[in-house]
Amino acid sequence: MPEWITWLFPDQASTIAPKVDWLYLALILVTGSVALLIFTLITVYSIRYRRRRIDQRGAHIEGFVPLELFWAVIPFLIFMGIFAWGGVIYYERSSPPKGTIDIYVVGKQWMWKLQHLEGPREINQLHIPAGYPVRLLMTSQDVIHSFYVPAFRIKQDVLPGRYTSQWFQATKPGRYHLFCAEYCGTEHSRMIGTIEVMRQEDFQQWIEAQRATQPMKSSGKEVFARLGCDSCHSSTDTPLGPSLHNVYQRKTSLKGGGSIVADESYLRESILNPADRIVHGYQSTMPTYRGQISDEQLNELIEYIKSLKR
Ligand code: CUA
Repeated sequence: MPEWITWLFPDQASTIAPKVDWLYLALILVTGSVALLIFTLITVYSIRYRRRRIDQRGAHIEGFVPLELFWAVIPFLIFMGIFAWGGVIYYERSSPPKGTIDIYVVGKQWMWKLQHLEGPREINQLHIPAGYPVRLLMTSQDVIHSFYVPAFRIKQDVLPGRYTSQWFQATKPGRYHLFCAEYCGTEHSRMIGTIEVMRQEDFQQWIEAQRATQPMKSSGKEVFARLGCDSCHSSTDTPLGPSLHNVYQRKTSLKGGGSIVADESYLRESILNPADRIVHGYQSTMPTYRGQISDEQLNELIEYIKSLKR
């Protein structure tokens, strides 16, 4: 995008930002020029063809099909084009590439709690490296929030009771604003933070310096042991429960038909509402762990389950 136009927009600091801006600019140009044309014609014609004598009457017009087709079909094609263009960008921003850096986000009234897989936790601040795709796995402890970083052109609602996710790839080091974009109570406007995009080497140093904390999967292993999950879920399937080894991203048949890919959301649901979607061949014997485990512990537990490989 040329330099002269970028003053119109917030900092462009992600791979998707210029694409979003081009689309936005095209939309503004199309709608703006049509609006301008209409208002100009209204003004010019109302002066040019004003009534000059009291007995003056306008000519009777029956309609002209080719002209009407012209102004129906052309705008239709333009807007379908914009729809397709938007669809392509939407698809891209909804499908994270392989090998993302995953970050867990927990929103609450009124702060952002973030955790790296390596263990470090942050509040209202997130350190990430430039040039790497980052996926945010987000949930809320209370009401609906929305994770919004204007410089990355990303915004996604953060909902209680489930995961939503979004991804981005930051392009240049710097500090960028993080906002909550969903009205969530008295201090909504103060639910803000900073995304600290660092050069790869600096980020590596930063994360090394935080190593006093243990990785999420190790904390998750402790939660797994404390809750006694291993009495039913061992390394092989037993009549009590299926093995959780290699369960992540596996297609699983469900009791009563249908199947599901065991992603983070399904693992989360199976811990909080185990009776909802039971694996084919098992009974509904698992109790819910709702209320016994915080959102942060749940995230760690899920990271542990994801790490279980045969
Ligand atoms: Cu959280 Cu607004």
